[in-house]
Amino acid sequence: MAAVIIDGKAFAAKVRAQVGAAVTALKAQGITPGLAVVLVGEDPASQVYVRNKHRQTIEVGMNSFEHRLPAETPEADLLALIAQLNADTAVDGILVQLPLPAHLNAELVINAIDPTKDVDGFHIDNVGKLVTGQKSMVPCTPLGSLMLLRDSLGDLNGLEAVVIGRSNIVGKPMANLLLQQGCTVTIAHSRTRDLPAVVRRADIVVAAVGRPEMVKGEWLKPGATVIDVGINRIQPAGADKAKLVGDCDFDSCAAVAGAITPVPGGVGPMTIACLLANTLTATCRRYG
Ligand code: GUN
Repeated sequence: MAAVIIDGKAFAAKVRAQVGAAVTALKAQGITPGLAVVLVGEDPASQVYVRNKHRQTIEVGMNSFEHRLPAETPEADLLALIAQLNADTAVDGILVQLPLPAHLNAELVINAIDPTKDVDGFHIDNVGKLVTGQKSMVPCTPLGSLMLLRDSLGDLNGLEAVVIGRSNIVGKPMANLLLQQGCTVTIAHSRTRDLPAVVRRADIVVAAVGRPEMVKGEWLKPGATVIDVGINRIQPAGADKAKLVGDCDFDSCAAVAGAITPVPGGVGPMTIACLLANTLTATCRRYG
């Protein structure tokens, strides 16, 4: 049985169209949502993400404010910029692109963002609210992954979910969202014993470990829904061009799964779409 390929690119386009329509309605009332993105240094992958965020923010009709700072920016300067953005009434959402250069304390920087403008959902207030089921900003990649799961499966109550990866950006918030949906959730990670046996229990597998093609088809329960969050650039033997692959071995997983997200074109496009949706949410709550 071949798996259904979950089209994250098409779903993200729908989300952006909905956000765009809501932005048009807000603009008719004289309100233009604004997203500020701060990039420190010249990490090539971060530069690509920031460029895409800027383009898509403009496309949905929002204001995009880009702040590019040199890699050696002192922490005090970055904190001063965040204080300025917190106070700026034209700014509804603030995102500081991660990873930050090593001399900057990411935790301190993120927690300096006004939690109501924290469209990444990384501020400790938002993390606490998510864990306790209060209204919060939800991190974009897990939110996008959940939208795809709900669209594929409908009600998730009672399903066994295994999240592979325990990062603050994806694994932990994803596990909390699935718990809220009534799933029985296991978080697996690098120390998990017999990972294939753990994964085989799952109706839902979310792979977010950053290890190219690690999850194999023979690990899966037949018919499982697989959400592949990994984006890994590999150089296949004998090929002259690098290739993007996920954390799942796509061909073997697609042969066993009921549904699977591809890489690229699965979760990736959902992340920016959800960032725009979170910015809209922040704007609406402010004028609420
Ligand atoms: N770097 C990789 N993913 C993310 C993300 O979702 N938000 C931020 N701020 N930085 C990232």
